[in-house]
Amino acid sequence: MSEQFDNTAGPLTTESGAPISNNNQSEAAGVGGPLLVQDQVLLEKLAHFNRERIPERVVHARGAGAYGTFTVTADVTKYTRADFLSQVGKETETFLRFSTVAGNLGAADAVRDPRGFALKFYTEDGNYDLVGNNTPVFFIRDAIKFPDFIHTQKRDPYSGSQEADNVWDFWGLSPESTHQVTWLFGDRGIPASYRHMDGFGSHTYQWVNEAGEQFWVKYHFKTDQGIKTLTSEEADVLAGADPDSHQRDLRESIERGEFPSWTVQVQIMPAAEAASYRFNPFDLTKVWLNADYPRITIGKLELNRNPENIFAEVEQSIFSPAHFVPGIGPSPDKMLQGRLFAYGDAHRYRVGANADHLPVNRPHATEARNGNRDGYYYDGRHGGQKNYEPNSFGGPNETGRPLWAPVQVNGPTGEWETPKHAEDNDFVQAGYLYNLMTEPEKERLIANLAGFIAKVSREDIAQRAIANFARADEDYGKRLTVAVAELRAK
Ligand code: HEM
Repeated sequence: MSEQFDNTAGPLTTESGAPISNNNQSEAAGVGGPLLVQDQVLLEKLAHFNRERIPERVVHARGAGAYGTFTVTADVTKYTRADFLSQVGKETETFLRFSTVAGNLGAADAVRDPRGFALKFYTEDGNYDLVGNNTPVFFIRDAIKFPDFIHTQKRDPYSGSQEADNVWDFWGLSPESTHQVTWLFGDRGIPASYRHMDGFGSHTYQWVNEAGEQFWVKYHFKTDQGIKTLTSEEADVLAGADPDSHQRDLRESIERGEFPSWTVQVQIMPAAEAASYRFNPFDLTKVWLNADYPRITIGKLELNRNPENIFAEVEQSIFSPAHFVPGIGPSPDKMLQGRLFAYGDAHRYRVGANADHLPVNRPHATEARNGNRDGYYYDGRHGGQKNYEPNSFGGPNETGRPLWAPVQVNGPTGEWETPKHAEDNDFVQAGYLYNLMTEPEKERLIANLAGFIAKVSREDIAQRAIANFARADEDYGKRLTVAVAELRAK
């Protein structure tokens, strides 16, 4: 690694460019004396060091990223007018950040947790961000529950640790989590590396074609490396021995020229079919069955370039589900709607008002043109250009064409639950998933769940959690009851 760095760049200087005479001895008042305030080399160095950290992401703090290329392999112009999808063979630069959810910045990679799969396409129509996970579903279906959910995953205000009581209390009282929890405690809950897992857009999004016809779409990224997972026991050992395992694996595979890739697929639903689909297609706790909407392969994603500076390019990278391009838009999924606000707000707090100007975040295939100006770390990029619209000085104009198509809404405003369709309940798809598992997979699932539930201190909390799995499948519930009782008896 070291030969890529050439450090023969002339004298060491202060931030204002003055040469530094001594970077090993600070300036003292006489031999053995106290230090002088006039030693600006020392003061500047210590002061800058104190400001090296920015707030870590409130979730998904721990991650790794790489640049790559997305290539279109099928004609999808009948579904979307998105320019980056407009021609077979068209290539778009991308940046992908993988992450875990609950751990802090320095946490280990090999843990049971969903993995973030945040993908930025640098398109000619602006950046398109798809901020998904390695799971097709999520624990909850309304954004208003997200901070409560995350509080149960993070450190307890009294103990300072993650507490089984909090986790299972929330999941037991939020039965819509049963599907995602079954997924998480199954084999895929601990990927062997970031390369050996699938990615998902998770939410339903809108695609609209040139003629204005609307479709609902779900994205799938199928790993070409094959799925590889770790058992709980293997992960415990690896997390201790090599906390950076996933991050290192990604970087080293790209350094070796073994570029990881994913086959990109979509499920497409004509907009008119949404109302009568057996599951509410905007409920993030549910998948669309492949038998109902088969996956269509549309492209290839390859990662082929490591970032040079982790802080600049990974820590300061920002992704927003609200970053759309013409031909793609949101769905009425209540989780997605909340996320459309949350990310931009997080970026302005965490990275600053000009986060979008940083090299990793700004458009690469076009440029941003608007009247937004100034703020901390503004680099003066607009020079003397007018900062208002409309103007008579050749400034940028609005297009008059919305990125996505209008969606029909019905009835009065209200704190409505996500409407249930014919086959919707909180347990049915968790039951399907359980019954797709082989017997050894079921055994590991039960052992993983029981090991965690057995740590709950209150019997009512443990029993309520188990009852949700029993409602997904009778056998599932029975085996879990026995396994938890056995562990509790020990
Ligand atoms: C309403 C629910 C949610 C809220 C309010 C929320 C909020 C947040 C926030 C505030 C961040 C940190 C952003 C930053 O500091 O840059 C974040 C990161 C992230 N979230 Fe969510 N989140 C929600 C649900 C989800 C869901 C459902 C998924 C996936 C399907 C997801 C995937 C991610 C990913 C991948 C990141 C890391 C992005 C990166 O690598 O920078 N989140 N979320």
